[in-house]
Amino acid sequence: MIRVAIIGATGYTGLESIEIIQRHPQAEVTYLTALEQECGNAEEVFPRLKGKCDIEIEPLDFDKLSDLADVVFCCLPHKVSMDFVPKLLGAGLKVVDFSADYRLKDVKVYEKFYNVKHTDPANLESAVYGLPELFRKRIKGKNLIANPGCYPTGALLAIAPLLKERLIETDSIIVNAVTGSSGAGKNPSDKFHFPNMNENLFAYGIGSHRHMPEMEQIAGEIAGSDVQILFQPHVGCFDRGILSTVYCQPKGKTGGQQLSKLYNDFYNGEPFVQICDDAPAVKSVAATNYCHISPACAKGRVIIFSALDNLVKGASGQAVQNMNIIFGLEETLGLK
Ligand SMILES: NC(=O)c1ccc[n+]([C@@H]2O[C@H](COP(=O)([O-])OP(=O)(O)OC[C@H]3O[C@@H](n4cnc5c(N)ncnc54)[C@H](OP(=O)(O)O)[C@@H]3O)[C@@H](O)[C@H]2O)c1
Repeated sequence: MIRVAIIGATGYTGLESIEIIQRHPQAEVTYLTALEQECGNAEEVFPRLKGKCDIEIEPLDFDKLSDLADVVFCCLPHKVSMDFVPKLLGAGLKVVDFSADYRLKDVKVYEKFYNVKHTDPANLESAVYGLPELFRKRIKGKNLIANPGCYPTGALLAIAPLLKERLIETDSIIVNAVTGSSGAGKNPSDKFHFPNMNENLFAYGIGSHRHMPEMEQIAGEIAGSDVQILFQPHVGCFDRGILSTVYCQPKGKTGGQQLSKLYNDFYNGEPFVQICDDAPAVKSVAATNYCHISPACAKGRVIIFSALDNLVKGASGQAVQNMNIIFGLEETLGLK
C-alpha cells in the first residue's frame, strides 16, 4: 500500500484527494494536516466523509509525517508550498505539489506573475511538470511533480496534437475558458462570494492571468519554438468544471476529417482523454478524471473545445494519476 499524506487537507483539493485515495485499491490516506484552527476529525470537518474517514486532521509534525507517508500531496496555496516542499524532499518523501511554485521554470516569470520571491530555485530545476499524457516517461520514479494548473490542463490537451504536428501558427492562439466557482478555492472573496456569483458569469484576469505563462511555457516545449497564447478566463455560477474554447490559425488547409484523425491517433490508448464528435460539456466530465476534446473547423480557423473537472483532472485526480506513475502502478487505479 502506498501511504499518502495530505497537507492543506481542509481545502477543496484536499477533500477531493481524500475521497479519491479512499477508492484506490493500492493507496491509503495515513496523515492529514492543516492549520491549527482548521483541525479536527475529518468526519466532522467534512460532513461528506461521515462514517467513512475516521482520521484526525492535525497540525503538521514533520517527524510524524516522514514516519507515516511515502508520498505527500501538497494542497497549499502558491508561496506557502515552497516553504514546505524542501523539507518534505529532505525527509526522503515523494511530493506532488498542487500549487504553481514548481511549474514555471523561469524564476523571473514566476516572480512577475505571482508577485513573490521564489525561495526554492534548487528544487524548481528538478521538478517535473505532471501532465501524464505528454510527459509520462519523465514522471516515473521522480521525487517532485508540479501538478499542472486546471486551466492549462484543458488548454494544453486541446492544442498539443496541433502543436506537435506544427499545423497551426504559434503567434495567435486564443484560449477562452469558463470555470466553476470551486476554481478559486474555499475562501470566498467579494467577487467569488455567493451573492455575486449566483446567476452570474464574468471575465477576470484580463491579459494577466497566472496560467497564461504556464500554458506558453509548456506549449513552447511541445512545439519546439516560442508560442504566444492569449488566455481569457471567465467564471460562471456552477460548482465545478472548465470548458475551454481554443481558436487557432491553421498553416494550411485543414478539414474536419483530418482533425478528427489527428486527435484520435494522438490520444489513442490514453485512458482519460476522449475525443468527441460533438462539442463537450462540463456536466459530462463532472467528478471524473476525464478530459473530453472535440476539434472543429469554421471560417478558416481551427476551434478545439475541451471540458474537464477542475478539481479532478485539473487537480486531485491528476495528482493520483501522477502518483500511480511515480510508483509504477496501473495509471488508472482509483480513477475509473
Ligand atoms: N481549486 C481548484 O480548482 C484547483 C485546481 C488546480 C490547482 N489548484 C491549486 O491547489 C492548491 C489548493 O487549492 P484549493 O482550491 O484546495 O485551495 P483552498 O480550498 O483554499 O485550500 C487550501 C488549504 O490550504 C490551507 N493553508 C493555507 N495556508 C496554509 C499554511 N501556511 N499551512 C497549512 N495550511 C495552509 C488553507 O487553510 P485556510 O483556509 O485556513 O487558509 C486551506 O485549507 C492551490 O495552490 C491551488 O492553486 C486548485
